[in-house]
Amino acid sequence: MLTAPVTPAIEAIEAIELPLLLEAVWRRYGYDFRDYAPASLRRRIRHAMELQGLSTLSALQDDLLHDERAMADFLDALTVEVTAMFRDPSFYRAFRDRVVPLLRPLPLIRVWHAACASGEEVYSMAILLHEAGLLDKTRIYATDMSERALETGRLAIYPLRRMRDHTANYQRAGGTASFSDYYTAKHEGVILHGFLRGNIVWASHNLVSDGSFNEFHVILCRNAMIYFNRDLQGRVHRLLYDSLAQGGVLGLGRGESLQFTPYEDRYEALDAAERLYRRAR
Ligand SMILES: C[S@@+](CC[C@H](N)C(=O)[O-])C[C@H]1O[C@@H](n2cnc3c(N)ncnc32)[C@H](O)[C@@H]1O
Repeated sequence: MLTAPVTPAIEAIEAIELPLLLEAVWRRYGYDFRDYAPASLRRRIRHAMELQGLSTLSALQDDLLHDERAMADFLDALTVEVTAMFRDPSFYRAFRDRVVPLLRPLPLIRVWHAACASGEEVYSMAILLHEAGLLDKTRIYATDMSERALETGRLAIYPLRRMRDHTANYQRAGGTASFSDYYTAKHEGVILHGFLRGNIVWASHNLVSDGSFNEFHVILCRNAMIYFNRDLQGRVHRLLYDSLAQGGVLGLGRGESLQFTPYEDRYEALDAAERLYRRAR
C-alpha cells in the first residue's frame, strides 16, 4: 500500500491524535509510550499503520482498543530490536580492561542487562566473563519489555547467516578463543552452549513503569534510552542509579551519555568514549 504524503494539515491532526492514542494504549494495556521521543515514535507508528492498512491514527486507536491481537502487532512494530553480539567491539575491549579487574575480588557478581532485546548482548557478556574466569560466580539478569525478544534470548538460537559479523565483532573485542567454540550449528541456526546459558535469569521488565529489583555490580542499558525524551531518560537514570551498588559500573550505548542528566555528578567516567561509568557516591 502506498503511504499518503504527510501534509501540514495531516501533521496538525496527528498532533491531536497521537497523545490520545498513547493515552488509550496506556489506560487499556499499561504500556506507557507517552514519554518516548516523538520523532522516532511517529515514524514507527506510521509503519504500524502501513502494516495494518490504516490511514489515520484514530483508526489505529480504534483497532488497538478493541483488538488485543492488534495491540500485540503494534508492540512488535514499535519495538526496535536491532542488536548484535559484541556490538561496538571497543566497548567490550574497554570492559575487559577497565571493569573486569574491579569485579575479580567480588565473591558474587550481579549483572543487569536492562533492555537486552533478543540477548546477543547478554551472551557476549557471558562469553567475556567466561574468558575472564568470572562466569561461574556471576548471576546475569536479562530484561526487556518485549516477551518475544526475551523468548529468543531464552532459547539461545540465532541465525547462522549473522555469525560471520558476530565472529568479526568478537575478534575485534579481543576474544581469546575461536568464536565457533561457543555454539553448535544446525540447519539455518546456531545454538549457544549450555554453560553460557546456566547463570542467566530472563524476565520481563519495563523501564518506564517497573522499579528496581536488586542491587547490581554492573548494569548495561544500551541503545534503549535514545528512544526516550529527556524527562523519561532522567527517570530511567534514577532507576539505574538506585539499582547500582556503590562503586558499581554503568554501561550505556554509543549515542547515550550521562552528560546533562541529573546523575552526572554521581559517577566518575571509567572510559567516557565507551560510555563506561562508575558510581562514585
Ligand atoms: C535497539 S534494542 C537494544 C538492545 C541491546 N541493549 C543492544 O544495545 O544491542 C532496544 C530494546 O529496548 C527495549 N525497550 C524499549 N522500551 C523499553 C522499556 N520501556 N522497557 C524495557 N525495554 C524497552 C526494546 O524492546 C528493545 O529490545
